[in-house]
Amino acid sequence: MELRDALRRRRMVRNYTGEPLPAGALDRIVDAGFRGPSAGWSQGISAVVVDDPERIGQIALLCGEDDYVASGFDRWLSSAGAHIVLCVEPGVYRKRYSEPDKDPAALEGVPWWWVDGGAALMAILLAAVDEGLGAGVHGARGMDAVGALLGIPKDVEVLGLVTIGHPAPDRRSGSLDRGRRPGRDHRGGW
Ligand SMILES: Cc1cc2nc3c(=O)[nH]c(=O)nc-3n(C[C@H](O)[C@H](O)[C@H](O)COP(=O)(O)O)c2cc1C
Repeated sequence: MELRDALRRRRMVRNYTGEPLPAGALDRIVDAGFRGPSAGWSQGISAVVVDDPERIGQIALLCGEDDYVASGFDRWLSSAGAHIVLCVEPGVYRKRYSEPDKDPAALEGVPWWWVDGGAALMAILLAAVDEGLGAGVHGARGMDAVGALLGIPKDVEVLGLVTIGHPAPDRRSGSLDRGRRPGRDHRGGW
């Protein structure tokens, strides 16, 4: 698939058919997440991959899926074939930026781990599209509880939960009603 097509087709998919993922697809998608750029090549991005249906169900419960379903949304999290819990490790960046060729002050303005995490997230989302699958991001409720369930260390931050699966018809996000925000493309100066 051409990159431009993957970019155009990508959207957050919040419902899946429940069919199993094609062999090897999940590994390729996770690997894509580790192919992004990384400040100082720190590589402080990690992923906890969950494809056990029982554990997927536990995560969905912790994230309040029942409440979302009660308000008219689909069983998004539990219908996924896999969850990728994307994590960032600030300590890895701090250690790297304390090395002689780096300046720790570089991390004071922009915490680079979130930048690298965003790049990893986008690579994962695009790789899912490239595999003919759908992906979604759950970034809010339940992340602390999910971190505890999966044994994620306290000094590791959870960026969010990426769902992967075969797309099923879903209810689109109300946020999309905002339309595209104009006036962001400044040429030759703001
Ligand atoms: C960091 C991040 C967190 C998000 N968290 C959620 C979430 O918790 N629940 C949700 O339904 N969508 C979530 N989204 C999806 C956005 O609502 C969605 O990307 C946006 O509305 C644009 O829609 P599209 O990605 O389908 O084009 C999140 C997206 C990002 C990048």
